[in-house]
Amino acid sequence: MKCDLILALDLPDEAQALRLLDRVGAEVDVIKIGLQMFTRYGPAFVDRVAALGAGRIFLDLKLHDIPNTVASAVQSLGDLPIEFLTIHTSGGRAMMEAAEAVKRRVRPSLTLLGVTVLTSIDAAALRETGVDAAPEAQVLRLARLAAASGLGGLVCSPVELPLLRRELDASIKLVTPGVRPTGAALDDQQRVLTPGEAARAGASGIVVGRPIVKAADPAAAARSIREELAAALAPA
Ligand code: C5P
Repeated sequence: MKCDLILALDLPDEAQALRLLDRVGAEVDVIKIGLQMFTRYGPAFVDRVAALGAGRIFLDLKLHDIPNTVASAVQSLGDLPIEFLTIHTSGGRAMMEAAEAVKRRVRPSLTLLGVTVLTSIDAAALRETGVDAAPEAQVLRLARLAAASGLGGLVCSPVELPLLRRELDASIKLVTPGVRPTGAALDDQQRVLTPGEAARAGASGIVVGRPIVKAADPAAAARSIREELAAALAPA
C-alpha cells in the first residue's frame, strides 16, 4: 500500500503559499488547503494551486450542516479540481449519504473523508457536549457510521490508526496529521508518530505542515519524509 505525503498549506497569505509550492511542489503528493486560505481566497485559489500542477488537492473544510446544505455545498465544489474533501461525521448518516450521493453525480473521483472526534476534544470536553462515551469509543462509533454511509475515508489521529485498521474495511482510506519526523519540533502536537510508524500502522496519507513549511530547506525536508515513507513500506 502507498502512503501519500500531504502538505498542509497553512500560510498567512497567498504569495507565501505559492512561493512555497514553487519550491516543494515536486516533492509532495497532495496539497491540503484549509479554512485559513479558503475563507480568504476562495475557489479561485484552489484553481491557482491546481494550475501549478504541484500535486493533487485536498480541501479541508470540515463541512457540517443539515443534509441539504452539505449536499448543496458539495455540488458547488463539484467543479473544483479536488481529490479529497472533509465533512464531519457527527452530522449524521443522512448528511453523509446526501453528500456521497451528490459527489457520485458531480465528481465521482472525489473521496469524502470523515472527521470523527476532533483531537482537541478530550473526555471531559466530550461529556460537556452530552456524549458520555470515551473518545476512542466515540471515534469508532462515528467511523463505523461513516463507512456505513458510504464515505471513502476518515481523518484520524495516528494513535487511532491501529484500532481503525483493525475494525474497518481495508478499502477505507485513513489520513492522519500529528506526524513528526524523528528529531523535528513537536510544535503543539502532543501524541505523534514518525512518518515511517504512521505508514506501517496503515495510514493512506500523512498530513505534514510545519516540519516542511518552516524548514530552512522545505524541499529537502519533504524529500526526506518521502524517503522515510518509501523505506517503511518497502518489502523486507
Ligand atoms: O504543522 P502541522 O504538521 O502540525 O500541521 C498539521 C495539519 O493538520 C494542520 O493543517 C492542522 O490543522 C491539521 N490537523 C492537526 N491535528 C488534527 C487535525 C488536523 O494537526 N487533529
